[in-house]
Amino acid sequence: FMCTSVNTSSTSYLPRDGVDRGPLKMIEFGLLDQLKELDWQVRFDGHRDYTQLRPASDPPVGKLLNSRYVSAVTESVAGSVAAHLREGSLALTLGGDHSIALGTVAGTMSVHPDAALIWIDAHADINTPETTDSGNIHGCPVSFLLGIAGQVKEFSWVKPCLTKDRLVYIGLRDVDAGEKKILRDHGIKAFSMHEVDKYGIAKVVEMAVQHVSPNRSRPIHLSFDVDALDPSVAPSTGTPVRGGLTFREGHYICEAIYETGCLVAMDLMEVNPTLEDDESVFQTVTIGCSLVRCALGETLL
Ligand code: ARG
Ligand code: MN
Ligand code: MN
Ligand code: MN
Repeated sequence: FMCTSVNTSSTSYLPRDGVDRGPLKMIEFGLLDQLKELDWQVRFDGHRDYTQLRPASDPPVGKLLNSRYVSAVTESVAGSVAAHLREGSLALTLGGDHSIALGTVAGTMSVHPDAALIWIDAHADINTPETTDSGNIHGCPVSFLLGIAGQVKEFSWVKPCLTKDRLVYIGLRDVDAGEKKILRDHGIKAFSMHEVDKYGIAKVVEMAVQHVSPNRSRPIHLSFDVDALDPSVAPSTGTPVRGGLTFREGHYICEAIYETGCLVAMDLMEVNPTLEDDESVFQTVTIGCSLVRCALGETLL
């Protein structure tokens, strides 16, 4: 399989020094060797530095910030993910801002048009260019993928490639009012932390997979935002929200998705080693690595 570490920021603050090397921390921690020990043949594409794609001027498009830059990066990411999937590799992308998933999912769908998307997150990331309050594109990728974002010239390369029956969320707990309306109006399946508490994680994952892949044959793209986990276990992330998944719940999700045998692509996103102290960064990076290992077949016994 292939593995890429990417970073771009769709957020309004200026990237601080070192932010763009964020995902590399997981590589430095030894993730590639850990995966080789699980018998994967690993090809690391290297850290993708996209700063040369950054336009000199990128003024807001409506409310959207950095749209030209994010569009250029995600289009390129879509191409690499698609190329690797076409060779039969599993594509692992480490990030970085969750706007990158616009690229990874588009890439997956171009090769497996019937793929299911399982989105693990505190947030729904389904704002449209109209509903977004922040203007951060990391809060919008799913609306672009579904084709409900309306026409944004800067993102004309993005074709609607996802349907609501192939999308499911787990872990939500910070959903904007406009996003709640979209989820409701489109009948999108979402398991918030309330359902995780109510049914337990095993039942939730089973219901989620049943929803997106009723006959268990669809290829699965797993997009895991590390902020789905509780900030007490994964603190170094840009938009932490209390009341998240426990360490084991997060790992259980990955183990169960591996067991489906259908995983074709995974994103591990929003690890930001510039946020919080060294101990927090270490915790977040190690948990990022262990989530990936579990999704790629590591078992407890
Ligand atoms: N809903 C908020 C927004 O639209 C927060 C999104 C957070 N997403 C993320 N990938 N960190 O800006
Ligand atoms: Mn972000
Ligand atoms: Mn999030
Ligand atoms: Mn997210």
